Amino acid sequence: MSKVFVNIGLSLDGYMAPEGMSIEHWDNPEYKHWGAKWGALMSWILKQQYFRENLQFGTGGETGPVNDMLRHTMERSGASIMGKRMFDAGERSWPEEAPFHTPVYVLTHEKREPWVRPGGTTFHFVNDGPARALEKARASAGGRDIRISGGAEVIQQYLNMNAIDELEIALAPVVFGGGRRLFEHLQDPAPQFRIDKMLNTPDATHLRYVRA
Ligand SMILES: NC(=O)c1ccc[n+]([C@@H]2O[C@H](COP(=O)([O-])OP(=O)(O)OC[C@H]3O[C@@H](n4cnc5c(N)ncnc54)[C@H](OP(=O)(O)O)[C@@H]3O)[C@@H](O)[C@H]2O)c1
Repeated sequence: MSKVFVNIGLSLDGYMAPEGMSIEHWDNPEYKHWGAKWGALMSWILKQQYFRENLQFGTGGETGPVNDMLRHTMERSGASIMGKRMFDAGERSWPEEAPFHTPVYVLTHEKREPWVRPGGTTFHFVNDGPARALEKARASAGGRDIRISGGAEVIQQYLNMNAIDELEIALAPVVFGGGRRLFEHLQDPAPQFRIDKMLNTPDATHLRYVRA
C-alpha cells in the first residue's frame, strides 16, 4: 500500500509561510518582508542541483545528501494533493513545466476543468473533500506514494483524519513571528509520531517522523 507523506519547510517557530505571503501581496514581496522571510526559509533548497533543475532555476548546485533526498522525494511521489492557496501561488510562479510530473489534486470550492501542463503534471480540482481527493490520488499514483504538498490548512485536515504516515520537516533557523502555522486546529488526541531519521546541515535540520 502506498504511503501518505508530508515534506515541507518550517520556520523555527512553526510557520509554513510568513505573514503577508498571499495572493493580494504576491507582487509586493516587501510587504511585511514576506519575500525575504520565504527566501530564508527556503535557502537550503534553492542551493540544491535537483531542485534548481526541476524549477528551471539554472544548472549547478549542491549534489550531496540533501540533493539525494530531494530526488528520492520526487521519485517516490505518484500523486500530490494541495490546497487552493498553495496552487494560486504556484500558478503564478512555477515554470510552464510544473515541477510535479504526476497528477496533482487541488482541494478547492472553485469548479475548474483539469489544467494539463507539459512534462506530465495535470492539476485536477476537487470539490468533494479531502477523503475523496486521497482516493483519487491513490487510484492514479500507480502504487507510488501520495504527497500532501501543503499548505497548512490541507495538512491539518489529513492530520485530523490520521491519514499521514510520514512527516518530513526541514526546520530552518529563521523566526517569522506570524504567518501560516502548521500545527493548529488539531483534534485531541492528535496523531502521534516517532523520530525515524535526522540529517543536520548548516541551513536546515531535516527531520523525518513516522506514525507511532
Ligand atoms: N513551507 C512549505 O514547505 C510550504 C509548502 C506548501 C505551501 N506553503 C505555503 O503555504 C501557504 C498556503 O497555505 P494555507 O494553509 O494558507 O492554504 P492551503 O492549504 O494551500 O489552501 C487553503 C484553501 O484550499 C481550499 N480548501 C482547503 N480544504 C478544502 C476542502 N476540504 N474543500 C474545499 N476547498 C478546500 C480553500 O480554498 P477555496 O475555498 O478558495 O477553494 C482554502 O482556502 C502558501 O503561502 C504556500 O506558499 C509552504
